[in-house]
Amino acid sequence: MNDIPELSLQNVRIANPEHVTEVIQNMIRDGQNKLQVVADFDRTLSKYTHRGQICSTCHNVLEEGHVLPEFYKDEARALRDHYFPIEMNPKLTIEEKIPVMVEWWTKAHDLLSKCHITKDDVRIMVENSTARLRDGCTWFFDQLQATDIPLLIFSAGIGDVIIEVIKHQATLHDNMKVVSNYLEYDDQGKMTGFQDEMIHVYNKNEGAIHDSDYFQKLEHRNNVILMGDSLGDLHMADGAVGVQNKLKIGFLNVKVEESLELYMKKYDIVILEDETLNVVNAILRKVL
Ligand code: TMP
Repeated sequence: MNDIPELSLQNVRIANPEHVTEVIQNMIRDGQNKLQVVADFDRTLSKYTHRGQICSTCHNVLEEGHVLPEFYKDEARALRDHYFPIEMNPKLTIEEKIPVMVEWWTKAHDLLSKCHITKDDVRIMVENSTARLRDGCTWFFDQLQATDIPLLIFSAGIGDVIIEVIKHQATLHDNMKVVSNYLEYDDQGKMTGFQDEMIHVYNKNEGAIHDSDYFQKLEHRNNVILMGDSLGDLHMADGAVGVQNKLKIGFLNVKVEESLELYMKKYDIVILEDETLNVVNAILRKVL
């Protein structure tokens, strides 16, 4: 760990340094051909704050600007005010939260479906939004592309928005796959609903990806870097086959004091209140 000074920063917490050292050493030994990366999007690849100002998630993008009507914004915010505290409540179990999250996503998707937005609307909203990729994200994407390391972005947000953010602020490379909730459009290009099964925060272990052969094709890549900001994200790579070394990196952006102990139990490395991908990139630099 001494070789990676970023791991000793004050805002980087590691419960078991010996374990982290061993996993990183194994990843360095095995090199780029054995590595795959699985990452959440909102507040993991994207920032929670940009120079101290809170940034948009991909849902928030729809509530900014003048494209969507006021009734959408009001209702979407009211839904979040009601459901977000339940998502974040450390006193409730995941089993207790799942039906409530399904209810939230169902209502939110129904609400957006009433607005019949177009692909152009999505692009315009993204361009005018405060959603920001973390500093260092472009380097991260470009390095993974250059070294042929697959990156799965797994999000309970909105796929169309994520794709636009990446295209607008970085490059969407062909080694990247974004599994998320995608909009469905009619012949006139107006949104009519959502494609496929809903992905919410707590079904990332069983979402669309596990019905495909994505992880099967990567079974020779036994080392996984997993990046998330919620406890649901810990399950994003459950479908990966033959995993030998998994490094779980968690970004803790809110309720730091209340959640730190739990995050340190669940994630190997916990990064507090950071606007960058510096720690991840420092590890990656050693492996490549
Ligand atoms: P994720 O970042 O783990 O993929 O989760 C998506 C986040 O989106 C989750 O914290 C809840 C939030 N969300 C909204 O802000 N508005 C919504 O309408 C919905 C359904 C979710």
